[in-house]
Amino acid sequence: MIADDFSHVDEWGPEKVVTVAEPRSGMRGVLVIDNTARGMGKGGTRMAPDLTVSEVGRLARVMTWKWAAVDLGFGGAKAGIRWDPASPDKELHLRRFVRALANEVPSEYVVGLDMGLGEDDAAVVQDELRDRGAAVGSPRETGGVPYDQWGVTGHGVAGAAAAALAWTGGAVAGSRVVVQGFGAVGRAAARRLDALGAQVVAVSTAAGAVHRPDGLDVPALLAAAAHGDGLVHHVARDVPGARLLPAGAELLLDTDVLVPAARQDVLDAQLAAGVRARVVVEGANLPADAAALRVLHERGVVVVPDFIANAGGVVAAAFAMDARYSVFPVEEQRVLDAVADRLSRNTVDVLDAARRAGEPPHAAARRLAQDRVRAAMDRSGRPGRVHVRL
Ligand SMILES: NC(=O)c1ccc[n+]([C@@H]2O[C@H](COP(=O)([O-])OP(=O)(O)OC[C@H]3O[C@@H](n4cnc5c(N)ncnc54)[C@H](O)[C@@H]3O)[C@@H](O)[C@H]2O)c1
Repeated sequence: MIADDFSHVDEWGPEKVVTVAEPRSGMRGVLVIDNTARGMGKGGTRMAPDLTVSEVGRLARVMTWKWAAVDLGFGGAKAGIRWDPASPDKELHLRRFVRALANEVPSEYVVGLDMGLGEDDAAVVQDELRDRGAAVGSPRETGGVPYDQWGVTGHGVAGAAAAALAWTGGAVAGSRVVVQGFGAVGRAAARRLDALGAQVVAVSTAAGAVHRPDGLDVPALLAAAAHGDGLVHHVARDVPGARLLPAGAELLLDTDVLVPAARQDVLDAQLAAGVRARVVVEGANLPADAAALRVLHERGVVVVPDFIANAGGVVAAAFAMDARYSVFPVEEQRVLDAVADRLSRNTVDVLDAARRAGEPPHAAARRLAQDRVRAAMDRSGRPGRVHVRL
């Protein structure tokens, strides 16, 4: 039975919701195109056994704001397949899903990576529709732009940190940095900040934090990353002047920049009151809860919001979209430079807007994104105006 209501539609969208189902194979999927006022709907494709239509709808809306916040000309969209990505039938379901959406892919939606889908899956989509333009995030071997391997998100986080420091009148060179989480994002951020002349004084994993007030040797840390989370124990034992702290203690260390790049909700109001960094750059999604953000704002700590600071993947995906039909490989350095440049500018835009309005950067970034989408809707004669003219 189809629910007979349009309650999921609001002033922004979604413009189009397509559910696909194949009774015989059990394949079920959904595509949500949220808002295309600023450009074609773009967002990753998720595969999960408990995927819901409303989850995909929410994620499509987040993409509408994300593209507008980074000021790139795409709209919001997202797709999902309800299936276990660990199942041996994964490829079959993926093929059936894109085949069922052949009217929309790639003219209205291009498959991208999200939870449950990797580079090879993008290549499968291209193969199924015999169209290189049907997916982004595919391997280099099929002409793709493997931007996850390049550490674009961490690279962009470092660029945002440098811009925020400059905005406060400081400089990245010589500044002290603490990085929480030494995974894909934390490692790439530490590497880039080190290259920019910052002093990484602490890093952490789920197993603890290692602190050295005179700075850690980042290339040696990266080489030791093979130890996984136990890296902090090795460094604390082997490096003179380094000491081990319990996980979480790094958030309160004396530093110029704090980069939470591990998990969500690691900063609450109480911890935020003890943060000594001047600048917090949110590498992780939602690392600080709403109360923590209020406290940081009241204390004058500059926060670069997650969807500005960690948007490196989004910027790189835009490159990959452009490169879909090109036979010339995209240069890694070109993408990294574009990511850093774009995120630095966005950081300054958001911090300026926040200062002008006297509001926290998160609120300013959200408003900026909404204003941009609304302006595009107005300029293209969408609702309201057309209605009035008729
Ligand atoms: N990978 C990306 O491109 C990307 C893009 C945007 C946002 N993010 C967000 O960034 C965050 C990190 O992603 P990732 O891909 O680097 O993950 P990852 O799994 O590669 O690394 C996570 C790191 O955090 C550490 N960690 C976990 N719990 C911790 C704790 N309590 N204290 C300290 N360290 C802890 C882990 O030990 C590990 O080093 C996530 O919030 C993710 O959603 C990632």
